[in-house]
Amino acid sequence: KDSKTTRFIEAHELAARFFHHLLMNTEQGKVAYDYLMDRGISPDVMKQFQLGYAPKEQTVLKELLEKRQFDAQEMEECGLLRRVEATWELEDRFRHRIMFPIWNIDGKVVGFGGRIITDGQPKYVNTPETPIFKKNELLYGFHLARPFVRKKNRVILFEGYVDVLSSHLADLPYAIATLGTSLTKRQAQIIRRNTERITICYDGDRAGEDATLKAANLLQQEGLQVEIAILPEEEDPDQYIRTYGKERFQKEIIEAAVPLIVFKMHLFKKEKNLNDEGEKLQYVEEVLHEIASLSTSVEQDIYVRHLSEETSVSLEALKQELERKIRANH
Ligand code: UTP
Ligand code: MN
Ligand code: MN
Ligand code: MN
Ligand code: MN
Repeated sequence: KDSKTTRFIEAHELAARFFHHLLMNTEQGKVAYDYLMDRGISPDVMKQFQLGYAPKEQTVLKELLEKRQFDAQEMEECGLLRRVEATWELEDRFRHRIMFPIWNIDGKVVGFGGRIITDGQPKYVNTPETPIFKKNELLYGFHLARPFVRKKNRVILFEGYVDVLSSHLADLPYAIATLGTSLTKRQAQIIRRNTERITICYDGDRAGEDATLKAANLLQQEGLQVEIAILPEEEDPDQYIRTYGKERFQKEIIEAAVPLIVFKMHLFKKEKNLNDEGEKLQYVEEVLHEIASLSTSVEQDIYVRHLSEETSVSLEALKQELERKIRANH
């Protein structure tokens, strides 16, 4: 075991195999297995994503690691073990959780997300930042998605691990997710190296909408063509697929994804009653402001027409106002 990095990765690979074995083949893993089956996650997907079960006991992984000559101190440093404050003893970080191994781009396990099996807090425990686990440059599922991403020249970006699994189950294997943080410039660059087109499919709640706007701006800055998949209020992709099936998800959510400007129009509209004169004016203002910052006059033309039809304000009036805004931007 030459370098520390190699040892850290070997320990994670060992832990992932161990947790996966417990999930698939043992009585103690049954509660996790049943939970996943209930959520419609097939044994094939469990294998493909090497899902696992971390047992209840305090030091099961610790003992395995020690038996294999891994240094306990180092295992704390790479996040597999943690120190109990009261006793200063080392114990397993992940206990009685469903384990999602997180791979780097080479397909090596470098960390875990651990989901609680019933309801409770925190829902996920993740590996902390370590020399091999850098949340702001890793993307969940990327090494599995990459061949498909390259072939189709597209990728779908989700919020959650389970959404990525569901996407595979819905025959959309070019699926990735961030690790519970906002998308970073670094991640956007990595995506851009592999594809030109991205569909953002975050949860249909306020947090998801805010994160969508931020991610979309970053991705556009890196030169990606961005589309937004809009989910019904309070749904997430995994829930949607389970409720409505994969065909509807493909057609009504992913294929129906819209350009960023249309998504913004959707958000502006949600808060307003367009039958109210004042609110309609405000809406027109907000949308024109966005249209004015589009990069080509062809795009501007398309969405001014769109806005005119939607609000029955004359095209001439809208165009005049748009010109004024564009001049003001210069
Ligand atoms: P969500 O709360 O949307 O969870 O968080 P989810 O992915 O839909 O999970 P399920 O369906 O309830 O099992 C989205 C992502 O944010 C991170 C995880 O990466 C999760 O997949 N997260 C969430 C955390 O890291 N910690 C948490 O406590 C919650
Ligand atoms: Mn969410
Ligand atoms: Mn919405
Ligand atoms: Mn979610
Ligand atoms: Mn979910």
